[in-house]
Amino acid sequence: MGRPSRGVLVHDDGTEEIVAPASIMIDDFGARLLLEYEYGPEMLPSNAVSSEALTAAGMWRYSALLPIDESPIVYPLPVGGTPLVAPPVLRASIGLPNLWLKDETRGPSGSNKDRATALVLQQAMSSGVSRVTSASTGNVAVSLAVGAAAAGKEAVNFVASDVDDGKLALMRHVGATVIKVQGGYEAAFRLSRQAAREFGWIDRNTGVNPVTVEAKKTVAFEIWEQLGGEVPDVVAVPVGDGPTLNGIAKGFRELVACGVAAAVPVLVGVQADGCQPVKRAWEVGGRVEATAAHTIADGIGVSRPISGALAVRDVVASAGFFVSVTDAQMLEAMALLGASAGVLAEPAGAASLAGLLVAVREGRLASNARMVALVTGSALKTPRFYQIGGRVAEISADLDELSRVLRSLDSAIPISRGRMHRPSDEGARPGGPIRHLRR
Ligand SMILES: Cc1ncc(COP(=O)(O)O)c(C=O)c1O
Repeated sequence: MGRPSRGVLVHDDGTEEIVAPASIMIDDFGARLLLEYEYGPEMLPSNAVSSEALTAAGMWRYSALLPIDESPIVYPLPVGGTPLVAPPVLRASIGLPNLWLKDETRGPSGSNKDRATALVLQQAMSSGVSRVTSASTGNVAVSLAVGAAAAGKEAVNFVASDVDDGKLALMRHVGATVIKVQGGYEAAFRLSRQAAREFGWIDRNTGVNPVTVEAKKTVAFEIWEQLGGEVPDVVAVPVGDGPTLNGIAKGFRELVACGVAAAVPVLVGVQADGCQPVKRAWEVGGRVEATAAHTIADGIGVSRPISGALAVRDVVASAGFFVSVTDAQMLEAMALLGASAGVLAEPAGAASLAGLLVAVREGRLASNARMVALVTGSALKTPRFYQIGGRVAEISADLDELSRVLRSLDSAIPISRGRMHRPSDEGARPGGPIRHLRR
């Protein structure tokens, strides 16, 4: 069980302050709290295990580096231990021979948010507080709703008025209290935090509760274990508020601090063309300024990111960069993941692959780099984005008729199969993983 030894308060201007790890809720919107431990190789599991065992143990395998006490894990849903998929058909079709997909769609609610939900609820289950709150662009709220249902707590979710209907229906399906807030996600976030303080609820809000980043960092530990104790060259992460990237960066930093990895991989932060406040701040070397959000990818359509400054810092420290992708590129990546890898991603979840394709095409990454795309959310919640081109034949139960139909189908190649896009044909040549980084 992990006991943080200190807290580091990182202010938006990059300055740091050491604080007691006990002061764990941060009300200063301009600073993020990172928990730190006494690092060493003994803090990580010493035994290599099969992927089945890794899945079975899940995120709790890394308890020594998580802020939990000695009590048994009582949170009832499986969490973490998601597959690191080496997709042969996709690799060949897009010309990225060393691509892996970290499939975070496999959590109980189909997104990477299930890790933070589990850690917050594990802590909450030993407290007498019955309500847990979050504000959300969709997936956090679904995750909290599902987790709270299993943990016997009440989720109070604050969402924007235009929240995805499918996600809203899921929250209600599992009995969460949902409150739509006019003024968008930012207003919902403010109200959720105020309500938590006013009514004494547990606050699962992303980024401001440091436990959320602690849970998200376990993805980095799993990637390292799943690659046989090595880190990849590059990890691509969709960026909305920023904590998913903050968590991955922290996880790899902790592997280095524990003495088991040489360096943090190059981190590629991926934003939507129609909402890229963090990428802009990185480009100009300035503050993260609020922007409008025009994208189909709700998870990364965050106008005023809570942990954007920290995401810039993490990316710069990794010698990485940001890219932006269009809605069409996310839909193409979503189709590729589905039809060439059997991985079902929603647009924000597919943004990581879309970003890698852009980065390789622009010559920023070599096509043979060992790269991981973090697939953060499942398509099952967002069926309106399915590619359902082509027709479905309906025939009588007759073999001749079937043969005729099969012949006609053979001549029509489905849109997302085959050789759609080979970034390696368009400039990037093999060599070191990073061709050159432009700002
Ligand atoms: C599917 C998906 N991907 C990525 C993100 C972005 O994560 P973060 O807000 O931690 O940057 C979200 C956030 O809701 C999401 O739902």
